[in-house]
Amino acid sequence: MAEQDHQKILILDFGGQYSQLIARRIRECHVFSEVKPFTLSAEEIKAFQPKGIIFSGGPGSVYEKDSPHPTKEIYELGIPILGICYGCQLLAQQFGGKVVPAQNRTAREYGKTETWFDNRCPLFKDLPGESVTWMSHGDVISEIPKGFTPAAHSAMCPTACICDEMRKFYGVQFHPEVTHTEHGMEILRNFLLNICGCSGDWTMAEFRQKTVKSVREKIGNGKVLLALSGGVDSSVAAALLSEAVGSALICVFVDHGLMRKNEGEEIEATFSQRNLTFIRVDAKHRFLTRLSKINAPEKKRKIIGTEFIRVFEEEAKKIGKVDFLAQGTIYPDVIESGQGNSDVIKSHHNVGGLPSTVDFREILEPLRMLFKDEVRQLGIELGLPKSLVDRQPFPGPGLAIRVIGEVTQRKLIMLQEADAIFREEMEKADYGVTANQYFAALTNMRSVGVMGDGRTYEYAIALRCVNTDDFMTAEWTRLPYDLLERVSSRIVNEVEGVNRVLYDITSKPPATVEYE
Ligand code: XMP
Repeated sequence: MAEQDHQKILILDFGGQYSQLIARRIRECHVFSEVKPFTLSAEEIKAFQPKGIIFSGGPGSVYEKDSPHPTKEIYELGIPILGICYGCQLLAQQFGGKVVPAQNRTAREYGKTETWFDNRCPLFKDLPGESVTWMSHGDVISEIPKGFTPAAHSAMCPTACICDEMRKFYGVQFHPEVTHTEHGMEILRNFLLNICGCSGDWTMAEFRQKTVKSVREKIGNGKVLLALSGGVDSSVAAALLSEAVGSALICVFVDHGLMRKNEGEEIEATFSQRNLTFIRVDAKHRFLTRLSKINAPEKKRKIIGTEFIRVFEEEAKKIGKVDFLAQGTIYPDVIESGQGNSDVIKSHHNVGGLPSTVDFREILEPLRMLFKDEVRQLGIELGLPKSLVDRQPFPGPGLAIRVIGEVTQRKLIMLQEADAIFREEMEKADYGVTANQYFAALTNMRSVGVMGDGRTYEYAIALRCVNTDDFMTAEWTRLPYDLLERVSSRIVNEVEGVNRVLYDITSKPPATVEYE
């Protein structure tokens, strides 16, 4: 695919927690990068044609038996190498230096550390002589290998950087990819641009142009089927493929009726203007019938997943033989599933796992090398509305897991209305961009209220708003009281059937972001 045409950096993964982050940071410098296992052979490395190689960190100790080591031939390829943390210690050990547990020589270092740089080393070109780096290591280099010179130190670590300028091998004990390292991006940029000679040619405009060309060549006169959920990934994939093959792209949008207010119409409006075949399958009744009298969260999720596949399969059969099935798989999905395998249909896809029985020749994953922020940039580049590209995560089972307990048409409408009010007020107050995810949920609790002169006995809406980096953990957002008051008052006044609004002040863990 198009990434073959770009200058590339290879990141060899030694099991470090920041390997993916290194790849992202390099992409932020407009250089294409990929994470691959450290077991790659010299032949595979040569075939990848990297301009530079990065050894990631890792939990092991280089002196331990069976600790991960790259092929020795890697050092004969004439390619610049930057070792980070464990990767730095690997370089030291493999060239005859000595790495020992920190307590034998000096203290271990974890966290922000004052570090002094030798600016003659090209890694530290144009940087201040002293700044903060992020350290996280239990081993230290006690003897520098022959041919290398030290180029940075901290109070506890006399060798925070080693370099061999002849062969262009560099190692840093700290983590330049972590934002706590003050000048980390400059250090990476120095390696990429000055040492490896990359030009920074990786932009979404270039990617768009090259991918469109290669997809067009691949598809020829064939037809492509895409399950469009309206989420960011499948929407961007649709826009990209429609530019490449126009009406040979058939998008199937299974409208399960569990979308937010007006969302189905918005998706249809966005895509029906494009040069593609857009099929909106109205499956609302079907999903609601299947969900009738079902209370258990897991059961609801399973029913929705199965029903989605069934509807999609039926539509695909009606369309007849298609050559390609397209998916919006993105790079974190590929990395998380162990480097991925393009001929496997991934069950974690945001439309809930596609059927394997549909008749097609090959799977197309045009976004499989992009990080989420790159997918968003590409979406803007392709002219998708910002509201769609900046969409918050929205669960595959939709509002069904935000209506606690049984889902009914009436409850869905109540929730859609309340959620729309919450979103509107959040956007007006400029919280729409700072909070990472926010939504309303309809509880299954009814309580007594008084409206006008009458008693009411109605449902309670819960408002959820969180800030998070990765959605694995999340903090509830301290929204201003006057904003919450406005939302509460509007919901109770405007949404029939609701007489109470609650604000969720639970973080994750112990709660989860969604209610079911
Ligand atoms: P939880 O509730 O697990 O949610 O804390 C974490 C993030 O994942 C989203 N989420 C889903 N996304 N299919 C999805 O595509 C799902 O079934 C699903 N369940 C939760 C949730 O919205 C939050 O961003």
